Amino acid sequence: MRILLVGSGGREHALAWKIAQSPLVEHLWAAPGNPGIAKHARCLDLTLDDADGLAGFATGHDVDLVVVGPEMPLVAGLADRLRERGLAVFGPGARAAAIEGSKAFAKDLMARHGIPTARFRTFGDPVAARRFCRELGAPCVVKTDGLAAGKGAIVCATLAEADAAIAQCLERREFGSAGASIVIEEFMHGEEASFFALSSGVSVVPLAAAQDHKTVFDDDRGPNTGGMGAYTPVRALDAAMQARVMREIVEPTLVALAAEGAAYQGVLYAGLMLTKEGPKVVEFNCRFGDPECQVIMARMADDLVPLLAAVARGDRLPASTPWTVTGRAAVCVALASGGYPGRYTTGVDITGLLEAEAVPGVHVFHAGTGRHEGRLVTAGGRVLGVTAVGDDLAIAVDRAYAGVKRIHFEGMHYRTDIARRALGEARAR
Ligand code: AMP
Ligand code: GLY
Repeated sequence: MRILLVGSGGREHALAWKIAQSPLVEHLWAAPGNPGIAKHARCLDLTLDDADGLAGFATGHDVDLVVVGPEMPLVAGLADRLRERGLAVFGPGARAAAIEGSKAFAKDLMARHGIPTARFRTFGDPVAARRFCRELGAPCVVKTDGLAAGKGAIVCATLAEADAAIAQCLERREFGSAGASIVIEEFMHGEEASFFALSSGVSVVPLAAAQDHKTVFDDDRGPNTGGMGAYTPVRALDAAMQARVMREIVEPTLVALAAEGAAYQGVLYAGLMLTKEGPKVVEFNCRFGDPECQVIMARMADDLVPLLAAVARGDRLPASTPWTVTGRAAVCVALASGGYPGRYTTGVDITGLLEAEAVPGVHVFHAGTGRHEGRLVTAGGRVLGVTAVGDDLAIAVDRAYAGVKRIHFEGMHYRTDIARRALGEARAR
Protein backbone atom coordinates (compact mmCIF):
# COMPACT_ATOMS: atom_id res chain seq x y z
CA MET A 1 0.00 0.00 0.00
CA ARG A 2 0.99 3.56 -0.64
CA ILE A 3 0.08 5.70 2.34
CA LEU A 4 0.10 9.43 2.99
CA LEU A 5 0.03 10.56 6.62
CA VAL A 6 -1.01 14.16 7.30
CA GLY A 7 0.36 15.89 10.40
CA SER A 8 3.56 16.76 12.24
CA GLY A 9 3.16 16.03 15.96
CA GLY A 10 3.80 13.27 18.46
CA ARG A 11 0.54 11.56 17.55
CA GLU A 12 1.60 11.40 13.91
CA HIS A 13 5.08 10.14 14.81
CA ALA A 14 3.47 7.27 16.73
CA LEU A 15 1.17 6.55 13.77
CA ALA A 16 4.09 6.66 11.32
CA TRP A 17 6.14 4.33 13.53
CA LYS A 18 3.27 1.85 13.74
CA ILE A 19 2.26 2.07 10.07
CA ALA A 20 5.87 1.61 8.93
CA GLN A 21 6.02 -1.74 10.76
CA SER A 22 3.25 -3.17 8.56
CA PRO A 23 4.34 -5.63 5.86
CA LEU A 24 1.52 -4.20 3.73
CA VAL A 25 3.27 -0.85 3.31
CA GLU A 26 5.23 -0.17 0.15
CA HIS A 27 5.56 3.61 0.53
CA LEU A 28 4.87 6.01 3.37
CA TRP A 29 4.88 9.78 2.95
CA ALA A 30 4.19 12.39 5.59
CA ALA A 31 3.00 15.95 5.12
CA PRO A 32 4.69 17.87 6.55
CA GLY A 33 6.09 15.37 9.11
CA ASN A 34 8.90 16.11 11.56
CA PRO A 35 12.47 14.87 12.18
CA GLY A 36 11.17 11.81 14.06
CA ILE A 37 8.64 10.92 11.38
CA ALA A 38 11.42 11.27 8.79
CA LYS A 39 12.90 8.00 10.12
CA HIS A 40 9.81 6.12 8.85
CA ALA A 41 8.42 8.22 6.02
CA ARG A 42 9.43 10.61 3.26
CA CYS A 43 8.47 14.05 4.48
CA LEU A 44 6.80 16.41 2.01
CA ASP A 45 6.89 20.16 1.89
CA LEU A 46 3.09 20.48 2.07
CA THR A 47 1.15 22.19 4.83
CA LEU A 48 -2.00 21.01 6.60
CA ASP A 49 -4.14 23.73 5.08
CA ASP A 50 -3.07 22.99 1.50
CA ALA A 51 -5.96 20.69 0.54
CA ASP A 52 -5.29 21.07 -3.20
CA GLY A 53 -1.60 20.31 -2.78
CA LEU A 54 -2.29 17.25 -0.64
CA ALA A 55 -5.00 15.94 -2.99
CA GLY A 56 -2.79 16.56 -6.02
CA PHE A 57 0.12 14.69 -4.45
CA ALA A 58 -2.06 11.75 -3.40
CA THR A 59 -3.74 11.33 -6.78
CA GLY A 60 -0.45 11.88 -8.64
CA HIS A 61 1.36 9.20 -6.61
CA ASP A 62 -1.38 6.54 -6.57
CA VAL A 63 -1.86 6.81 -2.83
CA ASP A 64 -4.17 4.04 -1.55
CA LEU A 65 -4.85 5.54 1.86
CA VAL A 66 -4.61 9.01 3.40
CA VAL A 67 -4.50 9.15 7.21
CA VAL A 68 -5.27 12.58 8.66
CA GLY A 69 -3.89 13.05 12.18
CA PRO A 70 -4.90 16.50 13.52
CA GLU A 71 -8.33 18.07 14.03
CA MET A 72 -7.64 21.38 12.30
CA PRO A 73 -7.62 20.08 8.70
CA LEU A 74 -10.50 17.69 9.41
CA VAL A 75 -12.69 20.48 10.78
CA ALA A 76 -11.72 22.57 7.74
CA GLY A 77 -12.94 19.81 5.36
CA LEU A 78 -9.69 18.18 4.16
CA ALA A 79 -11.23 14.68 4.19
CA ASP A 80 -14.11 15.90 2.02
CA ARG A 81 -11.72 17.48 -0.50
CA LEU A 82 -9.72 14.23 -0.69
CA ARG A 83 -12.81 12.01 -1.01
CA GLU A 84 -14.12 14.21 -3.83
CA ARG A 85 -10.97 13.17 -5.71
CA GLY A 86 -11.75 9.47 -5.14
CA LEU A 87 -9.19 8.92 -2.38
CA ALA A 88 -9.70 6.56 0.59
CA VAL A 89 -9.36 8.68 3.73
CA PHE A 90 -9.07 7.84 7.42
CA GLY A 91 -10.71 10.85 9.09
CA PRO A 92 -14.21 12.32 9.14
CA GLY A 93 -15.55 14.99 6.81
CA ALA A 94 -16.23 18.52 8.06
CA ARG A 95 -19.85 17.91 9.03
CA ALA A 96 -18.92 14.99 11.28
CA ALA A 97 -15.71 16.67 12.52
CA ALA A 98 -17.90 19.48 13.87
CA ILE A 99 -18.38 17.18 16.83
CA GLU A 100 -14.97 18.57 17.87
CA GLY A 101 -14.92 21.82 15.89
CA SER A 102 -17.95 23.26 17.65
CA LYS A 103 -18.64 22.45 21.31
CA ALA A 104 -22.09 24.01 20.93
CA PHE A 105 -22.89 21.63 18.04
CA ALA A 106 -21.61 18.64 20.03
CA LYS A 107 -23.56 19.59 23.16
CA ASP A 108 -26.77 20.26 21.22
CA LEU A 109 -26.43 16.93 19.41
CA MET A 110 -26.01 15.14 22.75
CA ALA A 111 -28.98 16.98 24.25
CA ARG A 112 -31.20 16.16 21.25
CA HIS A 113 -30.32 12.47 21.39
CA GLY A 114 -30.19 11.90 25.14
CA ILE A 115 -26.45 11.17 25.28
CA PRO A 116 -25.18 11.64 28.86
CA THR A 117 -23.16 14.83 29.36
CA ALA A 118 -22.93 17.77 31.77
CA ARG A 119 -25.88 20.17 31.94
CA PHE A 120 -25.07 23.25 29.82
CA ARG A 121 -26.11 26.31 27.87
CA THR A 122 -24.51 28.29 25.04
CA PHE A 123 -23.96 32.06 25.22
CA GLY A 124 -22.77 35.01 23.19
CA ASP A 125 -23.92 37.55 25.75
CA PRO A 126 -21.78 37.96 28.91
CA VAL A 127 -24.64 39.17 31.10
CA ALA A 128 -26.78 36.12 30.37
CA ALA A 129 -23.69 33.91 30.77
CA ARG A 130 -22.97 35.31 34.25
CA ARG A 131 -26.60 34.81 35.24
CA PHE A 132 -26.44 31.12 34.21
CA CYS A 133 -23.24 30.61 36.26
CA ARG A 134 -25.16 31.80 39.33
CA GLU A 135 -27.90 29.30 38.54
CA LEU A 136 -25.34 26.46 38.24
CA GLY A 137 -23.18 27.58 41.17
CA ALA A 138 -19.42 27.01 41.46
CA PRO A 139 -17.46 25.06 40.41
CA CYS A 140 -18.46 25.33 36.76
CA VAL A 141 -16.70 25.17 33.41
CA VAL A 142 -16.47 27.87 30.72
CA LYS A 143 -15.53 26.61 27.24
CA THR A 144 -14.86 28.33 23.94
CA ASP A 145 -17.16 27.04 21.21
CA GLY A 146 -14.34 26.71 18.66
CA LEU A 147 -10.90 25.06 18.63
CA ALA A 148 -8.33 26.51 21.04
CA ALA A 149 -5.48 23.94 21.03
CA GLY A 150 -6.68 22.23 24.20
CA LYS A 151 -6.69 25.50 26.15
CA GLY A 152 -10.30 26.55 25.61
CA ALA A 153 -11.82 24.86 28.67
CA ILE A 154 -11.54 26.92 31.83
CA VAL A 155 -12.47 25.13 35.03
CA CYS A 156 -13.69 27.78 37.47
CA ALA A 157 -13.59 27.04 41.20
CA THR A 158 -15.49 30.21 42.13
CA LEU A 159 -18.05 32.51 40.52
CA ALA A 160 -15.39 35.23 40.40
CA GLU A 161 -13.21 32.94 38.28
CA ALA A 162 -16.18 32.18 36.04
CA ASP A 163 -16.82 35.92 35.60
CA ALA A 164 -13.17 36.39 34.65
CA ALA A 165 -13.30 33.51 32.14
CA ILE A 166 -16.45 34.94 30.55
CA ALA A 167 -14.71 38.32 30.23
CA GLN A 168 -11.64 36.66 28.73
CA CYS A 169 -13.74 34.95 26.02
CA LEU A 170 -16.66 37.25 25.28
CA GLU A 171 -15.37 40.70 26.24
CA ARG A 172 -11.61 40.66 25.65
CA ARG A 173 -11.82 38.04 22.86
CA GLU A 174 -8.56 36.42 23.99
CA PHE A 175 -9.44 33.30 21.98
CA GLY A 176 -10.48 35.28 18.90
CA SER A 177 -13.52 33.99 17.05
CA ALA A 178 -13.18 30.55 18.72
CA GLY A 179 -14.36 32.22 21.93
CA ALA A 180 -17.01 34.53 20.47
CA SER A 181 -19.56 32.00 21.62
CA ILE A 182 -19.12 29.93 24.80
CA VAL A 183 -20.58 26.86 26.44
CA ILE A 184 -21.04 26.98 30.21
CA GLU A 185 -21.56 23.67 31.94
CA GLU A 186 -21.87 22.04 35.31
CA PHE A 187 -18.71 20.55 36.83
CA MET A 188 -18.66 16.75 36.80
CA HIS A 189 -16.90 14.75 39.51
CA GLY A 190 -15.17 11.46 38.81
CA GLU A 191 -12.28 9.74 37.09
CA GLU A 192 -11.50 11.04 33.60
CA ALA A 193 -10.55 8.76 30.71
CA SER A 194 -10.17 8.88 26.93
CA PHE A 195 -11.95 6.22 24.92
CA PHE A 196 -11.32 5.51 21.23
CA ALA A 197 -13.62 3.76 18.77
CA LEU A 198 -13.17 3.19 15.06
CA SER A 199 -16.09 3.90 12.76
CA SER A 200 -16.18 3.04 9.06
CA GLY A 201 -19.61 4.49 8.43
CA VAL A 202 -21.13 1.00 8.30
CA SER A 203 -19.81 -0.40 11.58
CA VAL A 204 -18.07 0.67 14.76
CA VAL A 205 -15.68 -1.14 17.12
CA PRO A 206 -13.96 -0.16 20.36
CA LEU A 207 -10.20 0.33 19.99
CA ALA A 208 -8.67 1.23 23.36
CA ALA A 209 -8.81 3.48 26.41
CA ALA A 210 -6.09 5.69 27.86
CA GLN A 211 -5.76 8.31 30.54
CA ASP A 212 -4.31 11.71 29.77
CA HIS A 213 -2.81 14.21 32.26
CA LYS A 214 -4.04 17.61 31.17
CA THR A 215 -2.57 20.10 33.61
CA VAL A 216 1.01 21.27 33.32
CA PHE A 217 2.14 20.49 36.89
CA ASP A 218 2.11 17.39 39.10
CA ASP A 219 -0.99 16.57 41.16
CA ASP A 220 -3.25 18.12 38.51
CA ARG A 221 -2.14 21.68 39.30
CA GLY A 222 -1.65 24.59 36.92
CA PRO A 223 -3.30 25.44 33.63
CA ASN A 224 -4.48 22.86 31.07
CA THR A 225 -2.19 21.83 28.24
CA GLY A 226 -2.60 19.63 25.17
CA GLY A 227 -1.65 16.71 27.45
CA MET A 228 1.48 16.12 29.53
CA GLY A 229 1.43 12.33 29.56
CA ALA A 230 -0.77 9.25 29.22
CA TYR A 231 -0.98 5.58 30.01
CA THR A 232 -2.97 2.56 28.86
CA PRO A 233 -4.84 0.36 29.75
CA VAL A 234 -7.19 2.10 32.18
CA ARG A 235 -8.60 -0.15 34.90
CA ALA A 236 -11.85 1.78 35.31
CA LEU A 237 -12.53 1.41 31.57
CA ASP A 238 -12.45 -2.38 31.53
CA ALA A 239 -14.25 -4.47 28.91
CA ALA A 240 -17.62 -4.18 30.67
CA MET A 241 -17.39 -0.39 30.98
CA GLN A 242 -16.20 -0.13 27.37
CA ALA A 243 -19.26 -2.10 26.26
CA ARG A 244 -21.46 0.30 28.25
CA VAL A 245 -19.75 3.34 26.72
CA MET A 246 -20.22 1.88 23.25
CA ARG A 247 -23.93 1.26 23.93
CA GLU A 248 -24.81 4.46 25.78
CA ILE A 249 -22.47 6.98 24.15
CA VAL A 250 -20.51 6.00 21.03
CA GLU A 251 -23.18 4.11 19.08
CA PRO A 252 -26.01 6.63 19.67
CA THR A 253 -23.64 9.51 18.79
CA LEU A 254 -22.65 7.93 15.47
CA VAL A 255 -26.28 7.10 14.68
CA ALA A 256 -27.24 10.71 15.50
CA LEU A 257 -24.50 12.08 13.23
CA ALA A 258 -25.49 9.74 10.38
CA ALA A 259 -29.14 10.74 10.79
CA GLU A 260 -28.04 14.35 10.38
CA GLY A 261 -26.19 13.52 7.17
CA ALA A 262 -22.72 13.23 8.66
CA ALA A 263 -21.61 9.58 8.50
CA TYR A 264 -18.37 9.14 10.44
CA GLN A 265 -15.23 7.53 8.98
CA GLY A 266 -12.31 7.69 11.36
CA VAL A 267 -11.58 7.44 15.04
CA LEU A 268 -14.06 8.92 17.48
CA TYR A 269 -12.41 10.06 20.70
CA ALA A 270 -14.82 10.29 23.62
CA GLY A 271 -13.41 12.24 26.57
CA LEU A 272 -15.32 10.72 29.48
CA MET A 273 -16.01 11.44 33.10
CA LEU A 274 -16.81 8.25 35.00
CA THR A 275 -19.30 9.75 37.44
CA LYS A 276 -21.36 8.08 40.16
CA GLU A 277 -24.30 8.09 37.78
CA GLY A 278 -22.28 6.44 35.01
CA PRO A 279 -20.04 7.55 32.15
CA LYS A 280 -20.70 11.04 30.76
CA VAL A 281 -19.14 12.92 27.85
CA VAL A 282 -16.70 15.74 28.68
CA GLU A 283 -15.97 16.32 25.00
CA PHE A 284 -15.73 14.56 21.67
CA ASN A 285 -12.73 14.76 19.35
CA CYS A 286 -12.58 13.72 15.72
CA ARG A 287 -9.07 12.19 15.82
CA PHE A 288 -6.66 10.29 18.04
CA GLY A 289 -5.61 11.92 21.31
CA ASP A 290 -2.11 13.28 21.68
CA PRO A 291 -0.37 11.77 23.75
CA GLU A 292 -2.96 8.97 24.09
CA CYS A 293 -2.14 7.78 20.56
CA GLN A 294 1.50 7.27 21.52
CA VAL A 295 0.65 4.75 24.26
CA ILE A 296 -2.09 3.02 22.27
CA MET A 297 0.23 2.49 19.29
CA ALA A 298 3.11 1.38 21.54
CA ARG A 299 0.93 -1.26 23.16
CA MET A 300 -0.92 -2.51 20.11
CA ALA A 301 0.27 -5.95 19.05
CA ASP A 302 -1.38 -6.30 15.66
CA ASP A 303 -1.06 -4.52 12.36
CA LEU A 304 -2.85 -1.15 12.35
CA VAL A 305 -2.90 -0.70 8.58
CA PRO A 306 -5.75 -3.14 7.70
CA LEU A 307 -7.93 -1.36 10.26
CA LEU A 308 -7.14 2.11 8.97
CA ALA A 309 -7.80 0.91 5.42
CA ALA A 310 -11.12 -0.75 6.34
CA VAL A 311 -12.29 2.46 8.00
CA ALA A 312 -11.21 4.56 5.01
CA ARG A 313 -12.87 2.23 2.50
CA GLY A 314 -16.11 2.12 4.46
CA ASP A 315 -15.88 -1.67 4.99
CA ARG A 316 -17.48 -3.64 7.78
CA LEU A 317 -14.96 -3.83 10.66
CA PRO A 318 -14.02 -7.11 12.38
CA ALA A 319 -16.45 -7.76 15.23
CA SER A 320 -13.85 -8.74 17.82
CA THR A 321 -10.84 -6.63 18.74
CA PRO A 322 -7.94 -9.05 19.18
CA TRP A 323 -5.46 -6.31 18.25
CA THR A 324 -5.75 -4.61 21.64
CA VAL A 325 -5.22 -7.74 23.69
CA THR A 326 -1.70 -7.80 24.96
CA GLY A 327 -0.84 -8.12 28.62
CA ARG A 328 1.34 -5.07 28.46
CA ALA A 329 1.00 -1.49 29.63
CA ALA A 330 2.37 1.66 28.02
CA VAL A 331 3.23 5.10 29.39
CA CYS A 332 4.16 8.36 27.68
CA VAL A 333 5.78 11.34 29.41
CA ALA A 334 5.71 14.63 27.49
CA LEU A 335 8.84 16.81 27.68
CA ALA A 336 7.85 20.44 27.26
CA SER A 337 9.65 23.70 26.47
CA GLY A 338 10.31 26.11 29.35
CA GLY A 339 7.22 28.31 29.74
CA TYR A 340 4.75 25.96 28.01
CA PRO A 341 1.69 26.19 27.95
CA GLY A 342 2.47 29.92 28.05
CA ARG A 343 5.16 31.59 25.95
CA TYR A 344 8.29 29.61 25.18
CA THR A 345 11.32 29.87 22.93
CA THR A 346 12.31 27.37 20.24
CA GLY A 347 15.54 26.41 18.49
CA VAL A 348 17.07 24.96 21.68
CA ASP A 349 19.50 22.02 21.24
CA ILE A 350 18.22 18.59 22.31
CA THR A 351 20.58 15.82 23.46
CA GLY A 352 20.31 12.25 24.76
CA LEU A 353 17.73 10.70 22.43
CA LEU A 354 19.83 7.70 21.45
CA GLU A 355 20.70 7.10 25.10
CA ALA A 356 17.00 7.25 26.03
CA GLU A 357 16.04 4.79 23.30
CA ALA A 358 18.70 2.41 24.59
CA VAL A 359 16.49 1.80 27.64
CA PRO A 360 14.54 -1.43 26.95
CA GLY A 361 10.97 -0.81 25.74
CA VAL A 362 11.49 2.94 25.21
CA HIS A 363 10.57 4.88 22.06
CA VAL A 364 10.90 8.63 21.88
CA PHE A 365 8.22 10.21 19.71
CA HIS A 366 8.94 13.67 18.31
CA ALA A 367 6.20 16.25 18.89
CA GLY A 368 7.75 19.68 18.40
CA THR A 369 11.25 19.21 17.00
CA GLY A 370 13.14 20.63 14.05
CA ARG A 371 16.61 20.70 12.52
CA HIS A 372 19.01 23.62 12.69
CA GLU A 373 22.33 23.23 10.85
CA GLY A 374 21.89 19.49 11.14
CA ARG A 375 21.28 19.56 14.91
CA LEU A 376 18.02 18.48 16.53
CA VAL A 377 16.34 21.47 18.18
CA THR A 378 13.04 22.29 19.88
CA ALA A 379 10.29 23.65 17.63
CA GLY A 380 7.14 23.55 19.77
CA GLY A 381 5.61 23.54 23.24
CA ARG A 382 5.47 19.81 23.67
CA VAL A 383 8.81 18.65 22.29
CA LEU A 384 9.11 14.89 22.83
CA GLY A 385 6.96 12.04 24.14
CA VAL A 386 9.11 9.49 25.94
CA THR A 387 7.06 6.31 25.61
CA ALA A 388 7.69 2.94 27.21
CA VAL A 389 6.00 -0.45 27.25
CA GLY A 390 6.33 -3.05 30.00
CA ASP A 391 4.68 -6.19 31.30
CA ASP A 392 2.86 -4.02 33.81
CA LEU A 393 2.30 -0.35 34.45
CA ALA A 394 5.04 -0.06 37.11
CA ILE A 395 7.67 -1.41 34.74
CA ALA A 396 6.50 0.86 31.93
CA VAL A 397 6.63 3.91 34.23
CA ASP A 398 10.15 3.10 35.47
CA ARG A 399 11.37 2.65 31.91
CA ALA A 400 9.77 5.87 30.65
CA TYR A 401 11.34 7.96 33.43
CA ALA A 402 14.71 6.20 32.94
CA GLY A 403 14.45 7.41 29.34
CA VAL A 404 13.43 10.92 30.39
CA LYS A 405 16.51 11.26 32.66
CA ARG A 406 18.81 10.78 29.68
CA ILE A 407 17.34 13.60 27.62
CA HIS A 408 18.22 17.24 28.04
CA PHE A 409 17.34 20.62 26.60
CA GLU A 410 17.49 24.02 28.27
CA GLY A 411 14.21 24.79 30.06
CA MET A 412 12.85 21.23 29.67
CA HIS A 413 10.07 20.38 32.09
CA TYR A 414 7.73 17.43 32.56
CA ARG A 415 5.37 15.89 35.05
CA THR A 416 6.91 13.37 37.43
CA ASP A 417 3.59 11.73 38.33
CA ILE A 418 2.31 10.20 35.08
CA ALA A 419 0.20 7.11 35.98
CA ARG A 420 1.10 7.56 39.67
CA ARG A 421 -2.51 7.48 40.87
CA ALA A 422 -3.20 4.32 38.89
CA LEU A 423 -0.06 2.73 40.34
CA GLY A 424 -1.11 3.68 43.89
CA GLU A 425 -4.49 2.08 43.35
CA ALA A 426 -2.86 -1.04 41.93
CA ARG A 427 -0.55 -1.28 44.99
CA ALA A 428 -3.44 -0.71 47.39
CA ARG A 429 -5.30 -3.71 46.00
P1 AMP B 1 -12.19 19.83 27.21
O1 AMP B 1 -11.38 20.75 26.37
O2 AMP B 1 -13.65 19.99 27.06
O3 AMP B 1 -11.72 18.40 27.10
O4 AMP B 1 -11.83 20.19 28.71
C1 AMP B 1 -10.50 20.13 29.18
C2 AMP B 1 -10.47 19.55 30.56
O5 AMP B 1 -11.24 20.35 31.47
C3 AMP B 1 -11.09 18.17 30.66
O6 AMP B 1 -10.19 17.18 30.29
C4 AMP B 1 -11.48 18.11 32.11
O7 AMP B 1 -10.37 17.80 32.93
C5 AMP B 1 -11.91 19.52 32.41
N1 AMP B 1 -13.35 19.62 32.22
C6 AMP B 1 -14.00 20.05 31.12
N2 AMP B 1 -15.33 20.02 31.28
C7 AMP B 1 -15.55 19.56 32.53
C8 AMP B 1 -16.73 19.32 33.31
N3 AMP B 1 -17.96 19.58 32.84
N4 AMP B 1 -16.57 18.86 34.56
C9 AMP B 1 -15.35 18.64 35.07
N5 AMP B 1 -14.20 18.84 34.39
C10 AMP B 1 -14.28 19.31 33.14
N1 GLY C 1 -4.70 14.67 24.90
C1 GLY C 1 -5.88 15.38 24.65
C2 GLY C 1 -6.19 15.62 23.25
O1 GLY C 1 -5.56 15.08 22.36
O2 GLY C 1 -7.12 16.36 22.98
